[in-house]
Amino acid sequence: MKTEILKISDLSADSDKIRYAAEIIKRGGLVAFPTETVYGLGADATDELASKKIYSAKGRPSDNPLIIHVSNPEDAEKYAYTDKLYCKLAKAFMPGPLTVIMPRRDTIPLSVTGGLETVAVRCPSHPVANALIRESGTAIAAPSANISGSPSPTRAEHVIRDMDSRIDAIIDGGSCDIGVESTIVKLDGDRVTLLRPGGVTLEQLSGIFGSVEVAPAVTGELAPGERPLSPGMKYRHYAPCCPLVLLEGSEDCVLRFMRHAQNAEKCAVICYDEEADLLRNERLIPFGSKDDPAAQAENLFDALRRADATDADIIYAHLPATKGIGLALYNRMIRAAAHTVKKV
Ligand code: TXA
Ligand code: MG
Repeated sequence: MKTEILKISDLSADSDKIRYAAEIIKRGGLVAFPTETVYGLGADATDELASKKIYSAKGRPSDNPLIIHVSNPEDAEKYAYTDKLYCKLAKAFMPGPLTVIMPRRDTIPLSVTGGLETVAVRCPSHPVANALIRESGTAIAAPSANISGSPSPTRAEHVIRDMDSRIDAIIDGGSCDIGVESTIVKLDGDRVTLLRPGGVTLEQLSGIFGSVEVAPAVTGELAPGERPLSPGMKYRHYAPCCPLVLLEGSEDCVLRFMRHAQNAEKCAVICYDEEADLLRNERLIPFGSKDDPAAQAENLFDALRRADATDADIIYAHLPATKGIGLALYNRMIRAAAHTVKKV
């Protein structure tokens, strides 16, 4: 299959490209598109056959459900049984990087929800994503547009690398601002459980709801055979092919370890911008200032992909702190590292 690349730099000047991509969605095809979090791989969420194509293009296990995307928070009602808690969340955080899991309506086939009676709904704030959904006139099911298990794509070139010739089109709308996937919460009566940390922070959610439960899989390792609340949490994820080791310790100790390692072994080092001059490794990947976890999140997946593209045998990076967006960084990095943490 030939994959068309549709470059959009100005939404109003390029509206014909959005209409063209929406036609592909309407006739059951696959279109990758930018969102404020990561690129998504979209298909009509109400079309069972179309959404099945997503699973084969990604190589995704069929029990791992998809998030459906709407252009207006009120449209969730067409696909899920919404309630007061949803309205409160929608008012505070939508459009934006938040996904809410609610009971499913029959408009969404079970093949989209991995057989679950719940459905995950998100209203992205990215203007290209929003325009595509609106023009398609349906909800768009979209996982991250990477091959299953590899780091999520935050730039069109990442999507091209993973999806070229597997899907109908890729909308190139530049790089994604947030860089890690949306926050996922599950609603159950008046209980709110955080299943995946993301752009909307635990602190922001707690500010509105008081108490928010955090699913154990967010920071911990699943016990063998344990079933996570979110099926995706049981799969190896975000992982470069080369092993990643996270370093825990004071900044000085981590830097000392990185310096020693780069002389002793063929390693790539993902470091803070401030450390770049002190390290000078040929496989050095600065990914943001040390006090700017938002910049680190924005660059994380690109850094993992770049580290993987070197000839390194091993990748080292700092173990992030878990405050604010840091919790999302921690969650992605600890899973990319398969929970390998080295105290230094
Ligand atoms: O930011 C995002 O959320 C991106 C963009 C494209 O919107 N999408 C995304 O989709 O990250 P994906 O498929 O890579 O991750 C969706 C996660 C999976 O871990 C899946 O198991 C979980 O959401 N999920 C989806 N529906 C669920 C449900 N009904 N119950 C529990 N977990 C669910
Ligand atoms: Mg994903």
